[in-house]
This record gives sequence, C-alpha cells and structure tokens, in this order.
Amino acid sequence: MITVRQANEADAEMLWIWANDEVVRQSAFSSDSISWSDHIDWFHSKLNDPKCRIYIGEDESGQAIGQVRFDVCGIRAEIDISVAPHRRKRGIGKVLLPLCIEAFGQSTRIVRFDAYVKLDNVASEAVFRATGFEKASIDQLRHCFHYTYESTG
Ligand SMILES: CC(C)(COP(=O)(O)OP(=O)(O)OC[C@H]1O[C@@H](n2cnc3c(N)ncnc32)[C@H](O)[C@@H]1OP(=O)(O)O)[C@@H](O)C(=O)NCCC(=O)NCCS
Repeated sequence: MITVRQANEADAEMLWIWANDEVVRQSAFSSDSISWSDHIDWFHSKLNDPKCRIYIGEDESGQAIGQVRFDVCGIRAEIDISVAPHRRKRGIGKVLLPLCIEAFGQSTRIVRFDAYVKLDNVASEAVFRATGFEKASIDQLRHCFHYTYESTG
C-alpha cells in the first residue's frame, strides 16, 4: 500500500538525487544537471511557498518511492511527478498521482490541474491519462502536450 505525506527538510538530498536522474532531466524543459546549492535554495523556497506543496509517496516499509509537486497559479495547480528510478514501470505512478491529488484537494480548494508532458514521454502520458487527464493542446514551442484535469472530489 502506498501512503503520502508532505515533503520536509529531510527529503532535500533524496529529491536532489531524483531530480538529477537522467530520465527526469530528459523529461524536464531544462535538461542541465542541478547543483546542490541551486537545489537547496530552490527546495527551501518551495517548502516556504504557500503556493507550492510537495508530497512524498512511501511504500509499506516507509521507503520513499516518488514525489508529486503542486504549484498553484490562480485557481489551478500545475503538477510535476517522478517515481524513484529503481521503482519505475511497476504501476506506482498510476497509484501515486491520484493519491496526491486527493491529499492536495482535501486541504485546498483547487480542483483544476495542468500537466505539461514532453511529446515523447509515453510513461508520463500513460500516468496522467489513467488518472483522468485529457489532452488539451500541443505546445509546439516547448514540444509538449498540455494535459488538464478537473477533480470531482
Ligand atoms: C513518468 C513516471 C512518473 C511514470 O511512473 P511509473 O511508476 O514508472 O509508471 P507506471 O509504472 O504507473 O506506468 C504507467 C504506464 O506507462 C508505461 N511505462 C512506464 N515506463 C515506461 C517506459 N519507459 N516506456 C514505455 N512505457 C512505459 C507502463 O507500462 C504503464 O503502461 P499501461 O498504462 O499500459 O499499464 C516515471 O517514469 C518517472 O518518474 N519518469 C521520470 C520523470 C517524468 O518523466 N515525469 C513526468 C514529467 S511530465
């Protein structure tokens, strides 16, 4: 069973390692690797930002297996997801994303979500589609699909 909790200071290094994973860098709009100092400044700003929330998914043994970040913009939130490199392709993304949307929705009024998925990121597309996201448009400049979702819960 996967459970979710909010990220905290102790997650800084793990999230840095995950962010620099090759597949994550390929999926991002800037593929440069991220230095520790840039990461820690960014992470502290996100932890202190009321418009941002980062959830960590954990397995039965309390092992962290993925993260989902929500960045609120007006009445919508943009989502970023990654699963720990050695835990991918086992269906975790498809379970983790709806769990985090539910947790986020319980403490905010946000029900509308956006995701920007690079055109070749089939795993990410599958996860968003399985959660109920629909393709809204193609962003030719950034070579990505814009997915949207409105939660009913
Ligand atoms: C995208 C990501 C979160 C998906 O998580 P995951 O736990 O590996 O995904 P799942 O195991 O739930 O798989 C979802 C589907 O994608 C498929 N899939 C997973 N990895 C795949 C791959 N590398 N190539 C092709 N298909 C893949 C699975 O077979 C599954 O297919 P199904 O819907 O037919 O069953 C994960 O691959 C990841 O962290 N990628 C790097 C970061 C990233 O791309 N984030 C998204 C940014 S928009």
